[in-house]
Amino acid sequence: MAQIKSKISSVGHYVPDHVLTNHDLEQMVETNDEWIRTRTGISERRILKDPGKATAFMSTEAGKEALELAGLDPAELDAIIVATVTPDYMFPATSCLVQNRLGARNAFAFDLSAACSGFIYALSTGSMMIESGRYKKVLVIGSDTMSSIIDYTDRTTCIIFGDGAGAVLLETSDDETGIIDFVNHTEGDEECLLYQPAGGSLHPATEDTVKAKQHVIMQDGRAVFKRATEGMADVSVEIMERNNLKADDVAWLVPHQANKRIIDAIARRMELPEEKVMSNIHKFGNTTAATIPLCLYDWKDQLAHGDNIILSAFGGGFTWGSVYLKWSIKS
Ligand code: UT7
Repeated sequence: MAQIKSKISSVGHYVPDHVLTNHDLEQMVETNDEWIRTRTGISERRILKDPGKATAFMSTEAGKEALELAGLDPAELDAIIVATVTPDYMFPATSCLVQNRLGARNAFAFDLSAACSGFIYALSTGSMMIESGRYKKVLVIGSDTMSSIIDYTDRTTCIIFGDGAGAVLLETSDDETGIIDFVNHTEGDEECLLYQPAGGSLHPATEDTVKAKQHVIMQDGRAVFKRATEGMADVSVEIMERNNLKADDVAWLVPHQANKRIIDAIARRMELPEEKVMSNIHKFGNTTAATIPLCLYDWKDQLAHGDNIILSAFGGGFTWGSVYLKWSIKS
């Protein structure tokens, strides 16, 4: 019997309306538009301001759009995976709230925590669930309310991150297209080069942790930049080599949107021209688990059935990985 393959059959998204520009940030911290644009490629990012709304809300909106575009009744979903590091609660999982709000009464749901690689890990997990033959329809969501864990007096982090969500529906592929291969890596970051110090079981929230501003992202930007550039470039080349892909065979690179300089360095290592590289970091910043599906959504009308696409990400953990797929949706 031929091996079952999964495919992306639909894409949805959600970004909040509120735009936080570099000029707005100039009023908040000692920075300037030129520095941010040349060092990161970011001009603005979206921020979720509505009280009572957070990651579950954005995930639900993105998931709803993906299901509507596919014409799928939520009750037909077998599973929902939400990749996030900014869940609504420590528990229950954000995906459980999404399952209820979508009316996906026959789906089981769980969250996956792999920071900026969350969507890659979730997509490969969802793909394996379909490949097993046990599940037919899996909704994979990458969603983060980064503004909830940002210190807006720290210029080294507040300029980078934004809020957003993207979703893809995975189904069984019935042709040669679909998810062909993936590679995932982890190397535990005991030095804490990129982390949120408090709020977990090691340092639960106390008056002191709040006063010390430990419930926000801390990073050694320069060290992370180096690791991210190497990790994403290595894993992208690794997946190309093991699938005998040359630069000419690749139609699109969809890199995690952490920094435009990182994206450019990876494209150079893969010998890809800029026209083949998706980047919307200028308008959304780094939305952590949402960057890759937000790119797929923005470019979906330009993608052709059968296009070879490489997705790559690097994030806290450290985690990194890459997915090779042939685009399945017919335009
Ligand atoms: O997805 C994974 C998550 N994180 C990342 O991928 C982050 C990866 N790292 C980066 O993107 C970059 O390291 C940053 C954007 C965070 C920083 O850019 P950089 O080119 O590595 O700057 P730097 O940290 O080497 O700092 C250069 C200078 C410093 O001043 P001095 O020491 O040279 O006088 C900083 O204090 O720039 C200063 N600086 C700023 N100046 C204006 C740092 N942040 C800012 C700022 N505005 N926002």
